[in-house]
Amino acid sequence: MSVALAIVGASVLGTWGIATIALIVSGIVLLVAPGDAETTSSGVAVGIFLLVAGLISGGLMQVVAMPLMGLDPPLPIKAKSIIPHEKMKEWARAGALRDFPDGIATEVRLRSLRVAIVRQGEELHAMNALCTHARLPLGSFPGAPIKPEPVRDGCVMCPFHGARFEVSNGKAVRQPFASEFNANHPFLGTLQSKLFFWNMGAEDIQTYPVRVENDEVLVGLPR
Ligand code: FES
Repeated sequence: MSVALAIVGASVLGTWGIATIALIVSGIVLLVAPGDAETTSSGVAVGIFLLVAGLISGGLMQVVAMPLMGLDPPLPIKAKSIIPHEKMKEWARAGALRDFPDGIATEVRLRSLRVAIVRQGEELHAMNALCTHARLPLGSFPGAPIKPEPVRDGCVMCPFHGARFEVSNGKAVRQPFASEFNANHPFLGTLQSKLFFWNMGAEDIQTYPVRVENDEVLVGLPR
């Protein structure tokens, strides 16, 4: 995806997302406090209308608009689809070791797979580049204002909603929308948690065996 397209897509989705949240929140407010006795029934009706419109808008955004922009629908990736390393026998070249900055998840495409290479000095790990919560890229989008987070305490953090995964084994050690993440990210955390009320969890993520040969990074893939 080009930088310009990523910026346009993020702007459209951001605006759409805020409008959707506004519809849902207004609908809930009207349902909870519909007004005085004379206007109660019309307040409730408008509240239901806004709530339904917001839910339809959110559904369309996530299942129709996002795929049209080249994004995966924001569905969770289940841990039961994880393939064990013993079955990763096809070694693919990911690039030269110097191409991978230290401490940041860097995405490469190997065959049809999106793989994040995480380098920590001489130590390398590889995992699915898409977060298991809503399939957004752990390394963010090129040129996007949301930047990839540096690896801390052996974990990579999804920059979108804050899920954390151990780089060595893919274990999900923090769920999306954790209170400390929300406190520091009012839009990506607190606001978006309202939009993602139907999908709040992150399961363990697929990892891949990785090795270095002649300064070249090789990743083991399934056949
Ligand atoms: S997409 Fe990663 S935490 Fe939501």
